[in-house]
Amino acid sequence: MAHVATSSPLSSSATGALTGRIRVPGDKSISHRSLMFGAMAVGETTIEGLLEAEDVLGTGAAMRALGAGVTRTGEGAWRVAGLGVGGLLEPESVLDFGNAGTGSRLTMGLVGGHAIAATFVGDASLSRRPMGRVLNPLREMGVDVIARAGDRLPLSIRGPKTLTPIAYRVPMASAQVKSAVLLAGLNAPGVTTVIEPIATRDHTERMLEGFGAAISVEIGSAGERIIHLEGRPELKPQHVVVPGDPSSAAFAVVAGLIVPGSDVTVENVLLNPLRTGLFTTLVEMGADLSIENERLSSGECIGDVHVRASRLKGVVVPPERAPAMIDEYPILAIAAAFAEGPTVMEGLEELRVKESDRLAAVARGLEANRIAAREGEASLVVEGRRAGVKIGGGTVATHLDHRIAMAFLVLGLAADETVTVDDVGMIATSFPSFRGLMEGLGARFADA
Ligand code: S3P
Repeated sequence: MAHVATSSPLSSSATGALTGRIRVPGDKSISHRSLMFGAMAVGETTIEGLLEAEDVLGTGAAMRALGAGVTRTGEGAWRVAGLGVGGLLEPESVLDFGNAGTGSRLTMGLVGGHAIAATFVGDASLSRRPMGRVLNPLREMGVDVIARAGDRLPLSIRGPKTLTPIAYRVPMASAQVKSAVLLAGLNAPGVTTVIEPIATRDHTERMLEGFGAAISVEIGSAGERIIHLEGRPELKPQHVVVPGDPSSAAFAVVAGLIVPGSDVTVENVLLNPLRTGLFTTLVEMGADLSIENERLSSGECIGDVHVRASRLKGVVVPPERAPAMIDEYPILAIAAAFAEGPTVMEGLEELRVKESDRLAAVARGLEANRIAAREGEASLVVEGRRAGVKIGGGTVATHLDHRIAMAFLVLGLAADETVTVDDVGMIATSFPSFRGLMEGLGARFADA
């Protein structure tokens, strides 16, 4: 896996109107899962539109190291020869997940569900992120863990001969934790139950059902989601069509709203309601944003997101919406910088443990570009446009975080002065075609 040794800075500056129609690459969450579930099915899964970015390619390499056949057959087209639940083999070398939280945490669930040992490593960003949230329920299921203090990478785990199915209440809003427990539970005898007090993205549940698992979701008396998964199913191979990633589309959507005169359509975007919190918020801010050509594909709602440059106003974003837009706060903060009046974002504690401490990284990046912002423990207030203040002109520290890099490059497209980000290397982890697609719409970038 590529580890960036030297940093490559990039600048963006005000540009004319952005116009055109683009397609962004496949959804990252669904791409990871299609490789993993393909590996757990009996027979050959085919994938169309897989996100070919470092994070997902790392998952493909891990599935191969665990014994699955993973082959690229064309652009975005992949074939996975699955081993069946219980069929993973012990890898001969360490599993390197680079920058990828989803790849590493979900694979810990898979490995923990097998009587094999594996060692997980990652880059400096991933090695700082908390893994105890996944390891603790796995320990309850009987998995052995060797990890340094604080449960950070590198670490090794060994699954037991027979896993104990558990009922686990996820203590934070995390689809990764939910999914890791369910993936381990795939190979436990009996029913594994996961309770999530606040709904998070449900791709694991939907896709496991599609692969033939017996999985059910009920809503408890306090509104919590209670997920039951029957262990040891025979998963059936599928043809998975991966829709465009709304978290990648977000950058072009916000750019189209803040660059005067723009008219941009992002086609074929996943519109799962647990992923579209940003679009809802932008509409509340007064965005001219419409969904066209809405349709169903592989059981998910998809559509074309059409935006025209708009006068935005600040809003209060309800904290309970956070899981449905958790990866979109950096780019929402950029939209908020162009709004009239403050935008208040709360319930952001999970932003502290993403690829970087995104709350701090966003606040520092805004300040460096003369945008007033107040950072709280789990909140951010962005003041919005101030008369007479020229924004931009700063350099942003990206801390190995792809979304910080892309969000601040979008800022530069509408700012008064050039914005520089210190390193764009990490954009390749989720959206390698970002620069080319944005330039195709008319964006102006320069190597700094
Ligand atoms: C993801 C879950 C989220 C999200 C990440 C992808 C997933 O992480 O931030 O980009 O695919 O399950 P958390 O579960 O840590 O919130």
